[in-house]
Amino acid sequence: MASNQSIQKLSGTLPFEGLAKNEIFDALDGFKANDVPWRSGRLLGYTYDPGEDALAIAHQAYLRYLTENGLDWTVFPSLHMIETDLIHMVRDLLRGDQKVVGSVTSGGTESILCAVKTARDYARATKPHITRPEMILPETAHGAFHKACHYFDIKPVLTPYDTETFRADVPAIQNAISENTILIVASAPGYAQGVIDPIAAIGQVAQAAGLLFHVDACVGGIHLSLMRRMGYSLPDFDFTVPGVTSISADLHKYAYAPKNISTVFYRNSDLRFHQYFANRRNTCYALVNPAVLSTKSGGPYAAAWALMQYLGESGYRRIVQKVQDATENFVAGINRIDGLRVLGKPDMCMFSFTADDFNIFELADRIRGKGFYMQPQFTHGPTPANLHISMEWGCADSVDAGLEVLREATAEVRADKSAINLSTIRARVVEILTTSKSPDQVEANLRELAGLTSGQLPTKMARINSVLDALPDELTEYMLCDFMNKVFV
Ligand SMILES: Cc1ncc(COP(=O)(O)O)c(C=O)c1O
Repeated sequence: MASNQSIQKLSGTLPFEGLAKNEIFDALDGFKANDVPWRSGRLLGYTYDPGEDALAIAHQAYLRYLTENGLDWTVFPSLHMIETDLIHMVRDLLRGDQKVVGSVTSGGTESILCAVKTARDYARATKPHITRPEMILPETAHGAFHKACHYFDIKPVLTPYDTETFRADVPAIQNAISENTILIVASAPGYAQGVIDPIAAIGQVAQAAGLLFHVDACVGGIHLSLMRRMGYSLPDFDFTVPGVTSISADLHKYAYAPKNISTVFYRNSDLRFHQYFANRRNTCYALVNPAVLSTKSGGPYAAAWALMQYLGESGYRRIVQKVQDATENFVAGINRIDGLRVLGKPDMCMFSFTADDFNIFELADRIRGKGFYMQPQFTHGPTPANLHISMEWGCADSVDAGLEVLREATAEVRADKSAINLSTIRARVVEILTTSKSPDQVEANLRELAGLTSGQLPTKMARINSVLDALPDELTEYMLCDFMNKVFV
C-alpha cells in the first residue's frame, strides 16, 4: 500500500493506489492543526472529557462494537441487551417506575424529534379533529424543537420567559393552550443560561388540560439527577413530577459518553408506540425502526455502557462535585470582573455572561486567540448577546487560567479603539435593509459588511457575529444557511 503521493493537500479524488498507514494517520493528525484541542481543558463546550482512564475504556468498547449494526436486534441481540440496560440505568436516575419505557437515540436532536413525532402521532390517534397541531415552546427551549416543528409541520407557539431568572412563564403557557395544542415543552435546564423551568407548575397545567408534557433534560438528565442524589437542593424535574409524560437525556453530554448517544423516555409503552415506524410496502426487507435512524453503529452503545459501568455512581459523583465547585468559582470570578456579568443563576454547570459596555463578540475572538473557546449567543429580545460556558470535568482545572484570560481580554477590548461597535453595525444594517434595491443587493451588502468571502472559513468571527446579531431572526437564518451552502463546496 506504500505510496509516494502527497496528501498534504486534499486532492478531491480517490487515490488510485492506496496510501501507507503512516501517511494516512499523519494526514489525519495534521488536519486537526486549526481545531480547538478538545482535551486542552480550554474548550468550554461541545466536548466532555471524563479523564484519561475512562476515555480509554470508552474507546476500546466503541471499537469492539464499531461495525455491529443496530438496524436489526435479531441479528445483534447483544445490542438489544445493551440498549435495555442503558435505558434501565437512566430511567432509575430519572426516577421512572417500571411502566416508564425509553429508546436510545443518536443525540439530543433525535430524542427531541422522536418526542415531538410521538406527540403528533398520538394526537392523530386520540384527537383526530386536530388538523393544525401546535406545540407550546418557551423561548428558552432548544432549537431542536423548532427543527421538529419544521420537519413535522407543527406550529410552534412561543411563550416568554422571566428576563431576570430565565425561567419559563407559566401563566403564559396556560394562556397559549388552544384546541390545537398537542404538546407542552420545558427544559431542565435550558442550554443558554442553565436554569430549570418550573416543571412542577407546568406539569399541573398540562395535566389539567389533558396534554402531553415533554421535559428536555438533554443536558441535565444525568448531571442533575446525580446532584440530587448527592444532596444538592434542586426542584423536581423528572418522572416524579405529575404531568410529565416524556423526558430526553443525553449520554454524550454529561454522562461523558463518546458521540452519538442520547435517550428518550415515555410514561408508558402506549405512548412510545407512536414513536415507532414500520414499513413493508416495497421489495426490500420489512423495516421497523424505534427512532429516526435505521442503520447505526453499535459503537456508541457499547462505549456509553462501558463508561457507565467503569465510573459507577461514585465516579460520576466525584465528577459532579468537581464540576460544580469549578462552576461556582467561575461564576463568582466572572461577576468580579469589571464590565462582565453572569446572566441569571445557573442550576447546574452551564451559564452565560454578557459585557455591559463593549462588544462581547470581540471578547470571544480575543479569548480564542489566547487558547480558550467560549460560545457566542445572540441577543434575544431583552437578553443581551453573551458567551456561553459548559463546564465539565476536563475543564474544571482551568478556571483560574480562564478568569485570567477573561481579565486580560476584557482590558484589551476596552482599550482597542478599532473594536467593532455593535451600535454602528446595527445602524448600518438598518440602512442596508431600508435602502438596498433588491433582495440580492441586501444579501451582497450584508455579506460585504460581515466580511464574508465565498468558500472560506473565517478565522475571526466578531464582525460576522455582530452583523448576524443585528439582523431579524429570519434573515439571520437565511444568511446562516446561505453561508453554509457556500462554505461546503
Ligand atoms: C437542552 C438541549 N436540548 C437539546 C440539545 C440538542 O442536542 P444535540 O446537539 O445532541 O442534538 C442540546 C444541545 O446542546 C441542548 O442543550
